Amino acid sequence: MQPQTKKYVADVALFAISQVAFYYAFKYIVGSLDPTKSKRKEAKLKSDKVLGRMGIKDLKLSEYEEIIATEVVHPDEIHITFKQIGGLDPIIQSLRESVIYPLCYPQLFTSASGLLGAPKGVLLYGPPGCGKTMLAKALAHESNATFINLHISTLTDKWFGESNKLVSALFSLAKKLQPAIIFIDEIDSFMRERRSNDHEITGMMKAEFMSLWDGLTTGEDTRIIVLGATNRPNDIDQAILRRMPKRFAIRLPTEGQRRNILEIMLKDVDLSPQFEMEALVRRTAGYSGSDLKELCRNAAMIPVREFVRSVEPTSGAGIASADLDGVDLENKNIRPLELEDFFAVDEATLAAAGASISKSYNTASHASVSAQIEDALPQDLLD
Ligand SMILES: Nc1ncnc2c1ncn2[C@@H]1O[C@H](COP(=O)(O)OP(=O)(O)OP(=O)(O)O)[C@@H](O)[C@H]1O
Ligand SMILES: [Mg+2]
Repeated sequence: MQPQTKKYVADVALFAISQVAFYYAFKYIVGSLDPTKSKRKEAKLKSDKVLGRMGIKDLKLSEYEEIIATEVVHPDEIHITFKQIGGLDPIIQSLRESVIYPLCYPQLFTSASGLLGAPKGVLLYGPPGCGKTMLAKALAHESNATFINLHISTLTDKWFGESNKLVSALFSLAKKLQPAIIFIDEIDSFMRERRSNDHEITGMMKAEFMSLWDGLTTGEDTRIIVLGATNRPNDIDQAILRRMPKRFAIRLPTEGQRRNILEIMLKDVDLSPQFEMEALVRRTAGYSGSDLKELCRNAAMIPVREFVRSVEPTSGAGIASADLDGVDLENKNIRPLELEDFFAVDEATLAAAGASISKSYNTASHASVSAQIEDALPQDLLD
């Protein structure tokens, strides 16, 4: 080969190599400039994992659907069952009949008039701590439907932008995975009464959400419902309320309901033979389910604390984690719970908090805070 030609070939090869190197360098730089890239990749991996666990393999999803798919909850991830919920049996039964059955046994609910079938929207409302989120979790565990636990932050994530596309991906994914329940906890924060000073994007997102939601009502074969929970139903947009015709009030537990809840919470607890359940039920008037839970937790701690204080630290090493090393913890002798334990705790806690409030605080203030919220519920919502 002539030296001239050799040089020419070498030049061409060098040029080609530099072009390839430039291409990859450019791609790398553009890739690293896209801040959503790693998030999208993460979303894809996560959605593959979530859907894989549910036995869904070759489903083609758009990148927006992949982001929404990360919110799908596998029933095994949730350990709450209807049995753990006290005092809400009629509501559970109603949810079974009006939500689970129409979603999972559509053949039972077909009618030429289209009057039968699952409602497209269900609202759980009532004062805080009375079991709304718990009910939704149990529904996720017990219904065989795909449960999408939608966090509004996913739709409004500034990295992904394009909230509208995410909203439509939400409904298209639900359709691909139906029967499906789209759960929005604290729905009031998303579906607040619309105001003129609302951010434009939020307004558009809500409008898109509502029109796609309406699409569910007209599409007879869609088996998707939107389930919302709130303790501020007054703040929800009227147009949204209209789309949630099935509403369940989850109120403060009555005496009978408190008995049920306490029986469930204390079922594996060693109670003293003189323990008077009725007295506890009476003295907890005005408590919500979560107040009862806290009360039981604190009470159950007392005998354990007494036991721990009664044994001498054995190690002498002064290290807390080694204090009980020599104690036979398998055959520990912890006394059963007494009624007093439930109320002693509150006083101790209040005293520790520096509160100069008497015992009356418990019932009076619990009752008043929760009752205020309950009173504030709109009359037309109360069924
Ligand atoms: N009916 C109930 N039976 C058994 N436990 C209950 C009940 N209601 C509430 N609890 C207990 O209280 C906790 C809080 O309840 P949950 O989160 O469902 O309240 P919520 O109604 O969603 O309140 P918020 O409106 O504040 O979100 C539950 O995890 C559970 O331990
Ligand atoms: Mg809740």
